[in-house]
Amino acid sequence: MEYTASLVRLKTDARIAAMRESAKDRRDPVCADETLNYLLYTVKSLRPRRILEIGTAEGLSGAAMLSALPDAVLTTVEIDEALYLRAKKNFEEFGLSSRAHCILGDAADVLNALDGTFDLVFLDGPKAQYLKYLPDIKRLLREGGVLFADDVLLYGWVSGKVPVPQKRHSIVAKLREYLDAVSRDEELITSVLDIGEGVAVSVKVSSK
Ligand SMILES: C[S@@+](CC[C@H](N)C(=O)[O-])C[C@H]1O[C@@H](n2cnc3c(N)ncnc32)[C@H](O)[C@@H]1O
Repeated sequence: MEYTASLVRLKTDARIAAMRESAKDRRDPVCADETLNYLLYTVKSLRPRRILEIGTAEGLSGAAMLSALPDAVLTTVEIDEALYLRAKKNFEEFGLSSRAHCILGDAADVLNALDGTFDLVFLDGPKAQYLKYLPDIKRLLREGGVLFADDVLLYGWVSGKVPVPQKRHSIVAKLREYLDAVSRDEELITSVLDIGEGVAVSVKVSSK
């Protein structure tokens, strides 16, 4: 672990911190402490009212965002039924059910069929699909809205800091394509940050 990452202390509700620890013990997917802190910093600064999340897992990042924002509502998509059900139960236990709209399905189909406008999109689903989701995410994001994509540097493989294992070339190529696309996009201003496994923050601006 790098020196800076080892200094990070997660600043969230004690119950959420405890749930994260048990999820990590079970090796269930959760974002890094550093990433969650930065996500919470982002939502507390921007105060989005409508949030879209791709990749609910058991609802920890969703619950953390909703607990930080009493006026926000979350739409969150998960493909794995067992995780979707666990997330629904967790939102219920946190008293957040009325503000958490959980959708079971493949994000590609769900995004395609989704309407409305979101202030913030937390993209934390299958990494190889980020680029495929981009047109729908841009359609759903309001002007001035923020797209927060996690795991874009993936263990330093994407930046080239760490050699890419043979089996991972395809996912790394897809993430590089995603970073290239959001960086070149006339309607997005993107920063790539070396936080956790890498975060790309894109703000949607007018193309004119
Ligand atoms: C990194 S985890 C999400 C972690 C969660 N956001 C958190 O921090 O607590 C990624 C999730 O995306 C889900 N996923 C994978 N492929 C998907 C797809 N095609 N559509 C929707 N969800 C998918 C996985 O089942 C997994 O739960």
